[in-house]
Amino acid sequence: MDYQVIIPAAGSGKRMGAGYNKLFLKLDKRPIILHTLDVFGSDQHCNKIILVIQQDEKDIFTELLLKSRYASKIEIVYGGDERQYSVYNGLNSALNSGIILVHDGARPFIRLKTIGRLVEVAAESGAAIAAVPVKDTIKKAIDLEVVETVERSSLWQVQTPQAFRFSVLMDAHNMASKEDFFGTDEASLVERTGQSVKIVESDYDNIKLTTPEDIYFAEAIMAKRKR
Ligand code: CTP
Ligand code: MG
Repeated sequence: MDYQVIIPAAGSGKRMGAGYNKLFLKLDKRPIILHTLDVFGSDQHCNKIILVIQQDEKDIFTELLLKSRYASKIEIVYGGDERQYSVYNGLNSALNSGIILVHDGARPFIRLKTIGRLVEVAAESGAAIAAVPVKDTIKKAIDLEVVETVERSSLWQVQTPQAFRFSVLMDAHNMASKEDFFGTDEASLVERTGQSVKIVESDYDNIKLTTPEDIYFAEAIMAKRKR
């Protein structure tokens, strides 16, 4: 089944500490964002990629896209100060039908198998998110004092892509915008509308490159995939 994807890439990568947008850092000699774009570009079911960028990085992205084989599928849209605004801007440039995915530019290791499953489940149920079971024991603490050990068996660590019927995501964003609600992912906006959200089990290596040590992990994942 066909789908379109919004790729937010308008952050500044503060926690990575490179001094510039972390998506320009290279893995295997190619900027991270091109690896992410390659996955969706190479998927015959993906018919449109909406790449959300900072306006003042337009020239850098335009030059980078010259190196992408999939540039014809990519439309550039300008983002906002928060990731949620960036996604909303992307949504307003999307085709108003079918299945829409949101996937962080900073997650280059997503597999086509997971994307396919997310599209299927979102078409059936309205909303589906990639996630992996939590491996560590999780405790809640206040001022460095433990107040609770959270039951782990029902906990999932959430990733992107997150997939929705178009109207489900648009309604959720409109509601969040009206009520000034901020969430750290799309599903948290969708949950508030009463829509059920399904989990599709993903891979532990679908990491988001966030802090400097993630670059070491990413290089190891890349080397393993090349073997
Ligand atoms: N993003 C975006 N618009 C924003 C903020 C983030 O499009 N205003 C994008 C980032 O470019 C990234 C994805 O959302 O691909 C996930 O965000 P995150 O990992 O937090 O990236 P940054 O916001 O760039 O990093 P940091 O929070 O450390 O500054
Ligand atoms: Mg951020």
